[in-house]
Amino acid sequence: MNINILAPSMLAIDFGNMEKDLKEVYSAGAYTIHVDVMDGMFVPNISFGPPVIRHVRRILPEAVLDVHMMVTEPARYLERFKTIGINNFTIHYEATKDPEGTLKQIREAGLKVGVSIKPGTPVSVLEPVIDMVDQVLIMSVEPGFGGQSFMPQSYERISAVRKLREDIDIEVDGGIYLDNVKDVLDAGANVIVAGSAIFKGDITENVTNFREKLGV
Ligand code: DX5
Ligand code: ZN
Repeated sequence: MNINILAPSMLAIDFGNMEKDLKEVYSAGAYTIHVDVMDGMFVPNISFGPPVIRHVRRILPEAVLDVHMMVTEPARYLERFKTIGINNFTIHYEATKDPEGTLKQIREAGLKVGVSIKPGTPVSVLEPVIDMVDQVLIMSVEPGFGGQSFMPQSYERISAVRKLREDIDIEVDGGIYLDNVKDVLDAGANVIVAGSAIFKGDITENVTNFREKLGV
């Protein structure tokens, strides 16, 4: 059995209160922070990069920083992110000409290795790389923006990945709220990313409610 993990997505944070809100999620019991890096090329949005992530690392020295690279040819940034002290480096299968080589480089860098697919990419593309990764990230919305609706076809995609490998982490990202998180877990996921559902409203209460659903 894989342990359930809650990973609040920083994309939805109030950047004016970043330090306070990050400390609040952590002290409410969410020890993994999902960090969305966007380059304006692979996705139509630009988020933040190394200086901001370095700041997050200073604020939460013990947190697991789960970096989701929505960036073309992400290996270009691997060393820089490693130096910052991130933990997980998840690339998009669609974002590189050489997924296998890139995953190998992440492994050699000593980071947790993740691969993600967009909603339109067949799960079968993962078959050749599934033994190279620690984590698969299933996008349940088109990557680029927070606050979108969960795509229901994601459930069977999650189950299909779980059939490929029992022992890895399966993370799901986009449109997850208290009312659908149980279905996402039942489909076979164990890492839950939530942006709006955590950072809008009372953060401590939101984290507590999610932890209860996740049993952590
Ligand atoms: C979207 C990002 C998500 C996003 C999720 O491209 O990868 O992590 O922050 O936000 P919500 O939970 O608001 O859908
Ligand atoms: Zn993400």
